[in-house]
Amino acid sequence: MTLEMETQPIKRNAGAAFAAIPTGAALGAEVRAGDLRTLDDAGFAYVLEAWHAHSVLLFRGQALSDPELIAFSRRFGDLDWAPVQENGRRFVEGMPEIYIVSNVKVNGEAIGSLGDGEAAWHTDMSYLDVPPKASMLYALEVPPRGGNTSFCCMYSIYEALPSDLKARIEGLKIKHDGTYNSGGYVRQGVTVTGDPRTSPGALHPLVCTHPDTGRRLLYLGRRRNAYLAGLDLEESEALLDELWSYVARPEFAWEHVWRAGDLVLWDNRCTMHRRDAFDPGARRIMHRTQIKGEARPA
Ligand code: OGA
Ligand code: MN
Repeated sequence: MTLEMETQPIKRNAGAAFAAIPTGAALGAEVRAGDLRTLDDAGFAYVLEAWHAHSVLLFRGQALSDPELIAFSRRFGDLDWAPVQENGRRFVEGMPEIYIVSNVKVNGEAIGSLGDGEAAWHTDMSYLDVPPKASMLYALEVPPRGGNTSFCCMYSIYEALPSDLKARIEGLKIKHDGTYNSGGYVRQGVTVTGDPRTSPGALHPLVCTHPDTGRRLLYLGRRRNAYLAGLDLEESEALLDELWSYVARPEFAWEHVWRAGDLVLWDNRCTMHRRDAFDPGARRIMHRTQIKGEARPA
């Protein structure tokens, strides 16, 4: 069965109407699977297949507490602990798996990370040797406009590269920087060097094979402080700029406009995401989990 062709709900388990409705863009589908807290094993198998086919899944109208968000996330694998918040707090008290993305302040202190500004294209936590394979972001409060999140398809971007460029990048390793988070804030305990060759981070293959789908993809992570190992800095910068010029193309992306109750699951191996800025006077509260991955295979 090819999920791409489905536009009508199909009957699955327990009388629930299941459907994966592609966004029509290069990636992403809305999955209608009812209340995720009561999803049975057959339903979960359907979700997993849809995720591998579409890389990003949207589930609308959910009502998840933090423990329920953690429980659903765990069905995909063990969870990583959240990164340190910008306010220096290690994590949410008692729930190290939850990362809060928010501009809301309580008593003058931000309750979460990333503020209200733009977040540039990135994939999560790829400054680690073993980055999470997936992230799940759940919207509790969203602003009336702005703060949209876009996703891009790194399979399509790799496939679009001219063959001579593909040949030039074959076998290269890329350093994914660990200095800044996606909001552009310096991570806790990191000294800024400004030199991509010496800044902290992790080396990964630039072209990877997805362990579940077997498809090849370009693994860029984020632009700032990235470095192609072994190249002169100038050469590395020029080649990275050339590769990143493909990322900006709208045909590889899908933009999500959030509603409260939306849960979005994305694959950090074969997608990147970015977020628009929004009105600093508006409130946006999202809770995220991150699912453990394996070292990225070439
Ligand atoms: C994230 C992230 C963007 C957003 O949670 O990893 O990049 O839309 N969030 O808040
Ligand atoms: Mn992110």
